[in-house]
Amino acid sequence: MHLLHLLATSGLALGATVTQLTGQVAFDIAVGPKPPFKPIPPSTPRTKECVVKSGGGGDDTPHIMEAVKACNGGGKVVFTRGVKYTVGTAMDLSKLEHVDLVINGQITFTNDVAYWQKHGFKHNFQDAMTFFQLGGVDVNVYGGGTLDGNGGVWKGKSPRPILFGTIGLKGGRISDLTLRNSPQWFHLVKDSQDVVYSDLRISGHNGNTDGWDTYNSRNIVIQNSNIDNGDDCVSFKPGSIDILVQGLVCSGSHGISVGSLGQYRGKTDIVENIMVYNVSMANASNGARIKTWSGGHSAGGGLEGGGGSGRVANVTYENMRVSKVDSAIEITQCYMEKDMAKCKANPSKVTISNILMQGFSGTTSGKKNTVGSLTCASAAGCKNIVLKDINVRAPGGSKAFSCNNIHPSGVSCA
Ligand SMILES: *[C@@H]1O[C@H](CO)[C@@H](O)[C@H](O)[C@H]1NC(C)=O
Ligand SMILES: *[C@@H]1O[C@H](CO)[C@@H](O)[C@H](O)[C@H]1NC(C)=O
Ligand SMILES: *[C@@H]1O[C@H](CO)[C@@H](O)[C@H](O)[C@H]1NC(C)=O
Repeated sequence: MHLLHLLATSGLALGATVTQLTGQVAFDIAVGPKPPFKPIPPSTPRTKECVVKSGGGGDDTPHIMEAVKACNGGGKVVFTRGVKYTVGTAMDLSKLEHVDLVINGQITFTNDVAYWQKHGFKHNFQDAMTFFQLGGVDVNVYGGGTLDGNGGVWKGKSPRPILFGTIGLKGGRISDLTLRNSPQWFHLVKDSQDVVYSDLRISGHNGNTDGWDTYNSRNIVIQNSNIDNGDDCVSFKPGSIDILVQGLVCSGSHGISVGSLGQYRGKTDIVENIMVYNVSMANASNGARIKTWSGGHSAGGGLEGGGGSGRVANVTYENMRVSKVDSAIEITQCYMEKDMAKCKANPSKVTISNILMQGFSGTTSGKKNTVGSLTCASAAGCKNIVLKDINVRAPGGSKAFSCNNIHPSGVSCA
């Protein structure tokens, strides 16, 4: 205690006030009602606290980095309630160990487009770029505060930063935060495992604002959160394995999506063991969606590609309520390919197998005269796709699906 105070007052932690803590319990988040695929390793109790100073409008990044340095390895970095912090510098937080970031205040990222485009962290996946990268071992972020990405200034700009970059994190809990105005996706979860996201409030419609994109990550839980956005609510990208999603309320989105997979020739994309349980989906283009590219070359919606291989396996969507959703369930092996004959001639090299869609209810928007669509490029490319208890209607009452090369029992095909 005395030594730490001495260090703090002797100027070694200029941006932070350091205090010793005793009798702390480790931060935890209960995962439920479905259990995670694998247990989430417990945190350790933290033994010191570093309160981040605020410069009152200037770039607070140096203060934050000082506090992180002083409290990494067993401490809590505290952003004070009611205080507005400004971040104008890309923060490399990828080597954290046993630390909590307690965000009680508000953090706003600056609107310096040129700076962020040059210095944001690039992730070698699509054009993903993040304001910061959070990684390491046993890191929790919580506190009831806000992260604001200043998304409005990014209109028409590319690339645009992702608000929250979880990169190479092994063990962590991200909880009780408001995330708003992301310039791009709200979360990129990459090269990570054993991470729980819970009780998050997400809102923003600035372009492709996916709630979460998981990529090359295992044993991730996303639960009990509200998402009001303009693109996928959650998107499982290549290498997403053992992912549990439950208790989400999504509005305005493109649904909960696997893929798209097989976009890049020469790559093998695998998504397996996904459980999506108890999700409400309103005002969205899709509810549950699985999309793979054909084996040939396709283009549309500003995207092009196809020819990659891989598999989507053991994916369950259970208990989804839809309201004003254009298509409750969409499975396609012909993503961005309108010409069915061409898609069948070059069938997708990404197989789709052991898929269960169960317990869907509600009404669609009526934009389409079907409630969903199922498209396999070849009968062999899709195996064991089961739809059960699907009680979704179009406003006119129709329950029909549009079907290509597949006709599961339990649905009627138009
Ligand atoms: C479903 O999710 C909602 C919203 O998060 C939650 O309030 C409700 O308790 C959940 N129900 C079940 C059965 O898990
Ligand atoms: C398939 O997913 C379920 C959860 O939906 C999981 O319990 C099961 O272990 C997975 N199967 C395999 C073979 O991993
Ligand atoms: C869906 O959109 C309608 C009209 O735009 C709006 O009134 C309603 O509140 C939205 N529902 C949700 C759950 O966001």
